[in-house]
Amino acid sequence: LSQQEGRVHVIGLDRSGRGDETEQVTQVVIFGASGYSGLELLRILAQHPEVRVVGASSDKWAGRPIKEVVPTFPSRLAFEPHAALLARASGEIAFLATPAKTSIELAPQLLAQNRRVVDLSGAFRLKDRAEYPRWYGFDHPRPDLLETAQYGLPEIDGQLGAPSLVANPGCYATAAILAVTPWLRAGLLDPAEPIFMDGKSGTTGAGRTLEDGLLHAEVAENLRPYRLLGHQHTPEIEQALAKAAGRAVTVSFTAHLIPMRRGLLVSAYGKAAQGVDAEAVKRAFGKAYGDSPFVQLTERAPETAIVTGTNVAAVHSVYDERTRGLIAFCAIDNLVKGAAGQAVQNMNRMLGLPQTLGLMPQGVS
Ligand SMILES: NC(=O)c1ccc[n+]([C@@H]2O[C@H](COP(=O)([O-])OP(=O)(O)OC[C@H]3O[C@@H](n4cnc5c(N)ncnc54)[C@H](OP(=O)(O)O)[C@@H]3O)[C@@H](O)[C@H]2O)c1
Repeated sequence: LSQQEGRVHVIGLDRSGRGDETEQVTQVVIFGASGYSGLELLRILAQHPEVRVVGASSDKWAGRPIKEVVPTFPSRLAFEPHAALLARASGEIAFLATPAKTSIELAPQLLAQNRRVVDLSGAFRLKDRAEYPRWYGFDHPRPDLLETAQYGLPEIDGQLGAPSLVANPGCYATAAILAVTPWLRAGLLDPAEPIFMDGKSGTTGAGRTLEDGLLHAEVAENLRPYRLLGHQHTPEIEQALAKAAGRAVTVSFTAHLIPMRRGLLVSAYGKAAQGVDAEAVKRAFGKAYGDSPFVQLTERAPETAIVTGTNVAAVHSVYDERTRGLIAFCAIDNLVKGAAGQAVQNMNRMLGLPQTLGLMPQGVS
Protein backbone atom coordinates (compact mmCIF):
# COMPACT_ATOMS: atom_id res chain seq x y z
CA LEU A 1 0.00 0.00 0.00
CA SER A 2 1.51 3.32 -0.98
CA GLN A 3 0.05 6.68 -0.13
CA GLN A 4 0.64 10.05 -1.75
CA GLU A 5 -1.34 13.18 -0.99
CA GLY A 6 -4.48 11.29 0.02
CA ARG A 7 -4.49 9.11 -3.12
CA VAL A 8 -3.94 5.56 -2.20
CA HIS A 9 -2.54 2.80 -4.35
CA VAL A 10 -3.91 -0.53 -3.28
CA ILE A 11 -2.44 -3.74 -4.61
CA GLY A 12 -4.14 -7.03 -3.93
CA LEU A 13 -7.86 -6.26 -3.75
CA ASP A 14 -10.21 -4.27 -5.90
CA ARG A 15 -12.81 -2.12 -4.11
CA SER A 16 -15.39 -4.91 -4.03
CA GLY A 17 -12.80 -7.19 -2.44
CA ARG A 18 -13.31 -9.68 -5.29
CA GLY A 19 -10.03 -9.88 -7.09
CA ASP A 20 -6.40 -8.94 -7.21
CA GLU A 21 -6.68 -5.87 -9.40
CA THR A 22 -4.64 -2.77 -8.79
CA GLU A 23 -6.56 0.41 -8.05
CA GLN A 24 -5.76 4.03 -7.52
CA VAL A 25 -8.41 5.89 -5.62
CA THR A 26 -8.89 9.18 -3.82
CA GLN A 27 -9.67 8.93 -0.14
CA VAL A 28 -12.51 11.07 1.13
CA VAL A 29 -14.27 11.61 4.46
CA ILE A 30 -17.81 12.77 5.27
CA PHE A 31 -18.73 14.82 8.33
CA GLY A 32 -22.43 14.59 9.17
CA ALA A 33 -22.74 11.23 7.39
CA SER A 34 -25.86 10.17 9.30
CA GLY A 35 -27.97 13.08 7.97
CA TYR A 36 -30.10 12.87 4.85
CA SER A 37 -27.46 14.50 2.62
CA GLY A 38 -24.60 12.61 4.28
CA LEU A 39 -26.33 9.27 3.71
CA GLU A 40 -26.93 10.21 0.08
CA LEU A 41 -23.21 10.95 -0.26
CA LEU A 42 -22.43 7.49 1.15
CA ARG A 43 -24.82 5.89 -1.35
CA ILE A 44 -23.39 7.74 -4.34
CA LEU A 45 -19.75 7.33 -3.35
CA ALA A 46 -20.27 3.60 -2.72
CA GLN A 47 -20.55 3.30 -6.53
CA HIS A 48 -17.86 5.82 -7.48
CA PRO A 49 -14.99 4.14 -9.33
CA GLU A 50 -12.28 6.63 -8.29
CA VAL A 51 -13.10 7.30 -4.66
CA ARG A 52 -12.97 5.45 -1.37
CA VAL A 53 -14.78 6.72 1.72
CA VAL A 54 -12.32 6.27 4.61
CA GLY A 55 -14.22 8.11 7.32
CA ALA A 56 -17.84 8.99 8.10
CA SER A 57 -18.83 10.92 11.19
CA SER A 58 -21.88 10.79 13.41
CA ASP A 59 -21.99 11.09 17.19
CA LYS A 60 -25.43 9.54 17.29
CA TRP A 61 -24.46 6.46 15.28
CA ALA A 62 -20.82 6.10 16.37
CA GLY A 63 -19.73 2.46 16.14
CA ARG A 64 -22.59 1.44 13.84
CA PRO A 65 -21.42 -0.21 10.57
CA ILE A 66 -22.31 1.95 7.54
CA LYS A 67 -23.55 -1.17 5.76
CA GLU A 68 -26.46 -1.33 8.22
CA VAL A 69 -27.95 1.83 6.71
CA VAL A 70 -26.34 1.80 3.23
CA PRO A 71 -26.33 -1.88 2.22
CA THR A 72 -24.35 -1.19 -0.98
CA PHE A 73 -21.44 0.32 0.96
CA PRO A 74 -18.33 -1.63 -0.05
CA SER A 75 -16.43 -1.94 3.26
CA ARG A 76 -16.89 -2.65 6.96
CA LEU A 77 -16.25 0.96 7.92
CA ALA A 78 -18.34 2.20 10.87
CA PHE A 79 -19.56 5.69 11.75
CA GLU A 80 -17.23 7.42 14.21
CA PRO A 81 -17.60 10.50 16.43
CA HIS A 82 -17.07 13.87 14.72
CA ALA A 83 -14.09 14.74 16.97
CA ALA A 84 -12.38 11.39 16.31
CA LEU A 85 -12.63 11.81 12.54
CA LEU A 86 -11.27 15.35 12.75
CA ALA A 87 -8.35 14.20 14.94
CA ARG A 88 -7.48 11.40 12.48
CA ALA A 89 -6.78 13.99 9.73
CA SER A 90 -7.69 11.47 7.06
CA GLY A 91 -8.69 11.80 3.40
CA GLU A 92 -7.78 14.19 0.61
CA ILE A 93 -11.27 15.68 0.38
CA ALA A 94 -13.70 16.29 3.23
CA PHE A 95 -17.43 16.67 2.58
CA LEU A 96 -19.28 18.68 5.22
CA ALA A 97 -22.93 17.61 5.36
CA THR A 98 -23.36 19.53 8.60
CA PRO A 99 -25.29 22.59 9.83
CA ALA A 100 -23.82 25.91 8.65
CA LYS A 101 -22.44 26.86 12.07
CA THR A 102 -20.68 23.50 12.34
CA SER A 103 -19.19 23.89 8.85
CA ILE A 104 -17.78 27.27 9.87
CA GLU A 105 -15.98 25.56 12.75
CA LEU A 106 -14.81 22.50 10.80
CA ALA A 107 -13.73 23.98 7.47
CA PRO A 108 -10.79 26.11 8.76
CA GLN A 109 -9.44 23.15 10.76
CA LEU A 110 -9.63 20.83 7.76
CA LEU A 111 -8.04 23.41 5.46
CA ALA A 112 -5.22 23.78 8.01
CA GLN A 113 -4.72 20.01 7.70
CA ASN A 114 -4.25 20.53 3.93
CA ARG A 115 -7.52 18.88 3.13
CA ARG A 116 -9.83 20.21 0.42
CA VAL A 117 -13.40 20.82 1.48
CA VAL A 118 -16.79 20.56 -0.22
CA ASP A 119 -19.31 22.17 2.11
CA LEU A 120 -22.99 21.37 1.61
CA SER A 121 -24.22 24.04 4.02
CA GLY A 122 -24.80 27.75 3.47
CA ALA A 123 -21.72 28.68 5.51
CA PHE A 124 -19.60 29.88 2.59
CA ARG A 125 -22.09 30.58 -0.20
CA LEU A 126 -22.59 34.33 0.21
CA LYS A 127 -19.83 36.73 -0.77
CA ASP A 128 -21.23 39.62 1.27
CA ARG A 129 -20.61 39.01 4.98
CA ALA A 130 -23.30 41.57 5.87
CA GLU A 131 -26.01 39.19 4.55
CA TYR A 132 -25.32 36.52 7.20
CA PRO A 133 -26.97 38.12 10.27
CA ARG A 134 -30.19 38.79 8.35
CA TRP A 135 -30.57 35.49 6.52
CA TYR A 136 -28.65 33.01 8.71
CA GLY A 137 -28.95 34.69 12.10
CA PHE A 138 -25.23 34.95 12.92
CA ASP A 139 -22.20 37.13 12.24
CA HIS A 140 -19.79 35.35 9.93
CA PRO A 141 -16.40 35.00 11.65
CA ARG A 142 -14.35 34.17 8.53
CA PRO A 143 -14.81 36.77 5.75
CA ASP A 144 -11.47 35.61 4.31
CA LEU A 145 -13.02 32.21 3.54
CA LEU A 146 -16.12 33.83 2.03
CA GLU A 147 -13.75 35.49 -0.40
CA THR A 148 -11.77 32.37 -1.35
CA ALA A 149 -14.62 29.84 -1.36
CA GLN A 150 -15.80 28.97 -4.84
CA TYR A 151 -19.53 28.64 -5.44
CA GLY A 152 -20.07 25.33 -7.22
CA LEU A 153 -23.01 25.31 -9.61
CA PRO A 154 -21.24 23.60 -12.54
CA GLU A 155 -23.81 24.36 -15.25
CA ILE A 156 -23.56 28.08 -14.51
CA ASP A 157 -20.04 28.68 -13.26
CA GLY A 158 -18.00 26.83 -15.89
CA GLN A 159 -14.51 25.73 -14.86
CA LEU A 160 -13.85 25.20 -11.19
CA GLY A 161 -10.04 25.36 -11.22
CA ALA A 162 -8.42 23.97 -8.08
CA PRO A 163 -10.11 25.63 -5.12
CA SER A 164 -9.50 24.36 -1.60
CA LEU A 165 -13.05 25.22 -0.49
CA VAL A 166 -16.19 24.72 -2.56
CA ALA A 167 -19.54 26.06 -1.38
CA ASN A 168 -22.09 23.60 -2.71
CA PRO A 169 -25.30 25.48 -3.64
CA GLY A 170 -28.55 25.22 -1.71
CA CYS A 171 -31.29 22.93 -3.01
CA TYR A 172 -33.88 25.63 -3.77
CA ALA A 173 -31.11 27.91 -5.04
CA THR A 174 -29.88 25.26 -7.49
CA ALA A 175 -33.32 24.86 -9.03
CA ALA A 176 -34.10 28.61 -8.99
CA ILE A 177 -30.82 29.62 -10.62
CA LEU A 178 -30.99 26.91 -13.27
CA ALA A 179 -34.61 27.85 -14.03
CA VAL A 180 -34.04 31.52 -14.86
CA THR A 181 -30.36 32.18 -15.63
CA PRO A 182 -30.97 31.86 -19.41
CA TRP A 183 -33.56 34.70 -19.18
CA LEU A 184 -30.90 36.98 -17.72
CA ARG A 185 -28.05 35.95 -19.96
CA ALA A 186 -30.18 36.58 -23.04
CA GLY A 187 -31.67 39.87 -21.74
CA LEU A 188 -35.24 38.51 -21.92
CA LEU A 189 -36.44 40.10 -18.68
CA ASP A 190 -37.77 43.58 -18.10
CA PRO A 191 -35.01 44.90 -15.78
CA ALA A 192 -37.44 47.12 -13.86
CA GLU A 193 -39.41 44.13 -12.56
CA PRO A 194 -38.54 41.57 -9.84
CA ILE A 195 -38.72 37.83 -10.39
CA PHE A 196 -41.30 35.97 -8.32
CA MET A 197 -40.52 32.38 -7.45
CA ASP A 198 -41.96 29.66 -5.35
CA GLY A 199 -40.27 26.46 -4.37
CA LYS A 200 -41.90 23.30 -3.07
CA SER A 201 -39.83 20.70 -1.32
CA GLY A 202 -40.32 17.29 0.30
CA THR A 203 -39.60 16.86 3.99
CA THR A 204 -36.02 15.56 3.66
CA GLY A 205 -35.20 19.16 2.70
CA ALA A 206 -35.52 20.07 6.38
CA GLY A 207 -32.99 17.47 7.49
CA ARG A 208 -33.65 14.82 10.12
CA THR A 209 -34.99 17.34 12.58
CA LEU A 210 -37.28 16.71 15.54
CA GLU A 211 -39.88 19.43 15.14
CA ASP A 212 -43.63 19.46 15.66
CA GLY A 213 -44.18 20.91 12.18
CA LEU A 214 -42.35 17.99 10.55
CA LEU A 215 -44.39 15.23 12.19
CA HIS A 216 -46.25 12.98 9.74
CA ALA A 217 -49.61 14.14 11.14
CA GLU A 218 -48.70 17.78 10.41
CA VAL A 219 -47.22 17.24 6.95
CA ALA A 220 -49.39 14.52 5.37
CA GLU A 221 -52.30 15.80 3.23
CA ASN A 222 -51.13 19.35 3.82
CA LEU A 223 -49.31 22.11 1.88
CA ARG A 224 -47.61 24.84 3.86
CA PRO A 225 -45.62 27.96 2.92
CA TYR A 226 -42.79 28.64 5.37
CA ARG A 227 -40.13 31.23 6.21
CA LEU A 228 -42.14 33.90 4.37
CA LEU A 229 -39.96 36.88 3.32
CA GLY A 230 -36.99 35.31 5.08
CA HIS A 231 -35.79 32.17 3.30
CA GLN A 232 -31.99 32.03 3.45
CA HIS A 233 -31.64 30.97 -0.20
CA THR A 234 -33.00 34.34 -1.38
CA PRO A 235 -29.65 36.23 -1.26
CA GLU A 236 -27.86 33.22 -2.77
CA ILE A 237 -30.25 33.25 -5.73
CA GLU A 238 -29.93 37.03 -6.14
CA GLN A 239 -26.13 36.80 -5.97
CA ALA A 240 -25.97 34.24 -8.78
CA LEU A 241 -28.55 36.01 -10.95
CA ALA A 242 -26.79 39.36 -10.56
CA LYS A 243 -23.63 37.71 -11.88
CA ALA A 244 -25.51 36.31 -14.88
CA ALA A 245 -27.25 39.63 -15.62
CA GLY A 246 -24.36 41.99 -14.87
CA ARG A 247 -26.75 44.06 -12.72
CA ALA A 248 -28.66 43.71 -9.45
CA VAL A 249 -31.65 41.38 -9.66
CA THR A 250 -34.47 41.33 -7.11
CA VAL A 251 -36.14 38.05 -6.27
CA SER A 252 -39.21 37.33 -4.17
CA PHE A 253 -38.96 33.68 -3.11
CA THR A 254 -41.45 31.64 -1.09
CA ALA A 255 -40.75 28.09 0.08
CA HIS A 256 -43.44 25.44 0.64
CA LEU A 257 -43.38 22.08 2.36
CA ILE A 258 -45.12 19.29 0.48
CA PRO A 259 -46.07 15.85 1.76
CA MET A 260 -43.43 13.76 0.05
CA ARG A 261 -40.00 12.59 1.18
CA ARG A 262 -37.78 13.92 -1.59
CA GLY A 263 -38.09 16.12 -4.65
CA LEU A 264 -38.28 19.84 -5.23
CA LEU A 265 -39.89 22.07 -7.84
CA VAL A 266 -39.26 25.77 -8.39
CA SER A 267 -41.74 27.81 -10.47
CA ALA A 268 -40.56 31.29 -11.50
CA TYR A 269 -42.45 34.22 -13.03
CA GLY A 270 -40.97 37.32 -14.66
CA LYS A 271 -42.02 40.19 -16.92
CA ALA A 272 -40.59 39.90 -20.42
CA ALA A 273 -38.70 42.75 -22.07
CA GLN A 274 -40.18 44.30 -25.24
CA GLY A 275 -39.69 42.19 -28.35
CA VAL A 276 -39.37 38.81 -26.60
CA ASP A 277 -41.13 35.84 -28.20
CA ALA A 278 -41.37 32.09 -27.71
CA GLU A 279 -38.52 31.45 -30.15
CA ALA A 280 -36.15 33.73 -28.21
CA VAL A 281 -36.90 31.78 -25.00
CA LYS A 282 -36.24 28.45 -26.70
CA ARG A 283 -32.95 29.74 -28.14
CA ALA A 284 -31.78 31.08 -24.77
CA PHE A 285 -32.31 27.76 -22.99
CA GLY A 286 -30.79 25.71 -25.82
CA LYS A 287 -27.71 27.93 -25.74
CA ALA A 288 -27.38 27.75 -21.95
CA TYR A 289 -27.84 24.00 -21.51
CA GLY A 290 -27.42 22.36 -24.90
CA ASP A 291 -24.17 20.64 -23.83
CA SER A 292 -25.01 20.02 -20.21
CA PRO A 293 -25.07 16.36 -19.15
CA PHE A 294 -27.33 17.02 -16.18
CA VAL A 295 -29.79 19.69 -17.34
CA GLN A 296 -32.60 18.19 -19.34
CA LEU A 297 -34.78 20.63 -21.27
CA THR A 298 -38.25 19.09 -21.17
CA GLU A 299 -41.01 19.58 -23.75
CA ARG A 300 -43.56 20.31 -21.03
CA ALA A 301 -43.49 21.52 -17.42
CA PRO A 302 -41.39 18.99 -15.47
CA GLU A 303 -42.51 16.83 -12.56
CA THR A 304 -40.39 15.88 -9.57
CA ALA A 305 -40.97 12.14 -10.07
CA ILE A 306 -38.95 12.03 -13.29
CA VAL A 307 -35.74 13.14 -11.55
CA THR A 308 -36.03 11.20 -8.29
CA GLY A 309 -32.73 9.53 -7.43
CA THR A 310 -30.84 11.28 -10.25
CA ASN A 311 -28.51 14.25 -10.55
CA VAL A 312 -30.70 15.64 -13.34
CA ALA A 313 -32.33 19.07 -13.29
CA ALA A 314 -35.41 19.08 -15.54
CA VAL A 315 -35.97 22.61 -16.88
CA HIS A 316 -38.75 24.14 -18.98
CA SER A 317 -39.62 27.74 -19.82
CA VAL A 318 -42.39 29.40 -21.82
CA TYR A 319 -43.37 32.88 -22.98
CA ASP A 320 -46.95 33.89 -22.17
CA GLU A 321 -47.96 36.30 -24.91
CA ARG A 322 -51.22 37.20 -23.17
CA THR A 323 -49.53 38.62 -20.05
CA ARG A 324 -46.09 39.35 -21.55
CA GLY A 325 -44.87 36.96 -18.89
CA LEU A 326 -42.01 34.53 -18.69
CA ILE A 327 -42.53 31.32 -16.75
CA ALA A 328 -39.85 28.76 -15.91
CA PHE A 329 -39.75 25.53 -13.93
CA CYS A 330 -36.97 23.37 -12.58
CA ALA A 331 -37.46 20.00 -10.89
CA ILE A 332 -34.62 18.30 -9.01
CA ASP A 333 -34.10 15.69 -6.34
CA ASN A 334 -33.19 17.88 -3.36
CA LEU A 335 -30.81 15.25 -1.99
CA VAL A 336 -29.01 14.58 -5.30
CA LYS A 337 -28.73 17.61 -7.63
CA GLY A 338 -29.78 19.72 -4.62
CA ALA A 339 -27.08 18.34 -2.31
CA ALA A 340 -24.97 15.15 -2.49
CA GLY A 341 -24.99 14.59 -6.27
CA GLN A 342 -23.91 18.14 -6.96
CA ALA A 343 -21.23 17.81 -4.24
CA VAL A 344 -19.84 14.74 -6.02
CA GLN A 345 -20.04 16.60 -9.35
CA ASN A 346 -17.93 19.34 -7.72
CA MET A 347 -15.51 16.79 -6.29
CA ASN A 348 -15.09 15.28 -9.77
CA ARG A 349 -14.27 18.73 -11.11
CA MET A 350 -11.78 19.37 -8.28
CA LEU A 351 -10.02 16.11 -9.08
CA GLY A 352 -10.01 16.74 -12.84
CA LEU A 353 -12.33 13.75 -13.43
CA PRO A 354 -15.28 13.77 -15.87
CA GLN A 355 -18.06 15.53 -13.93
CA THR A 356 -20.49 12.71 -14.64
CA LEU A 357 -18.29 10.01 -13.07
CA GLY A 358 -20.28 7.94 -10.55
CA LEU A 359 -23.36 10.05 -11.26
CA MET A 360 -24.89 8.67 -14.38
CA PRO A 361 -28.63 8.99 -14.08
CA GLN A 362 -30.42 5.91 -12.84
CA GLY A 363 -33.38 7.17 -10.86
CA VAL A 364 -36.47 5.27 -9.89
CA SER A 365 -39.79 5.02 -11.64
N1 LIG B 1 -31.57 18.08 3.20
C1 LIG B 1 -31.41 18.70 2.04
O1 LIG B 1 -32.22 18.56 1.09
C2 LIG B 1 -30.22 19.62 1.83
C3 LIG B 1 -29.99 20.12 0.54
C4 LIG B 1 -28.89 20.97 0.33
C5 LIG B 1 -28.08 21.31 1.40
N2 LIG B 1 -28.35 20.83 2.64
C6 LIG B 1 -27.44 21.24 3.73
O2 LIG B 1 -26.63 20.11 4.09
C7 LIG B 1 -26.36 20.15 5.49
C8 LIG B 1 -26.86 18.84 6.10
O3 LIG B 1 -28.26 18.79 5.91
P1 LIG B 1 -29.13 17.47 6.20
O4 LIG B 1 -30.50 17.82 5.77
O5 LIG B 1 -28.47 16.28 5.65
O6 LIG B 1 -29.08 17.47 7.83
P2 LIG B 1 -29.54 16.39 8.89
O7 LIG B 1 -30.30 15.29 8.24
O8 LIG B 1 -30.20 17.14 9.98
O9 LIG B 1 -28.14 15.84 9.42
C9 LIG B 1 -27.22 16.68 10.07
C10 LIG B 1 -25.90 15.97 10.22
O10 LIG B 1 -24.98 16.88 10.82
C11 LIG B 1 -24.38 16.25 11.93
N3 LIG B 1 -24.08 17.24 12.97
C12 LIG B 1 -24.96 17.93 13.73
N4 LIG B 1 -24.30 18.72 14.60
C13 LIG B 1 -22.98 18.50 14.38
C14 LIG B 1 -21.80 18.99 14.98
N5 LIG B 1 -21.84 19.91 15.96
N6 LIG B 1 -20.61 18.54 14.51
C15 LIG B 1 -20.57 17.67 13.50
N7 LIG B 1 -21.67 17.17 12.88
C16 LIG B 1 -22.85 17.56 13.35
C17 LIG B 1 -25.38 15.21 12.41
O11 LIG B 1 -24.65 14.19 13.10
P3 LIG B 1 -25.21 13.29 14.34
O12 LIG B 1 -25.45 11.93 13.77
O13 LIG B 1 -24.13 13.28 15.34
O14 LIG B 1 -26.48 13.94 14.82
C18 LIG B 1 -25.96 14.73 11.10
O15 LIG B 1 -25.16 13.73 10.54
C19 LIG B 1 -27.09 21.38 6.06
O16 LIG B 1 -26.20 22.46 6.15
C20 LIG B 1 -28.17 21.65 5.01
O17 LIG B 1 -28.53 23.02 4.97
C21 LIG B 1 -29.39 19.97 2.89
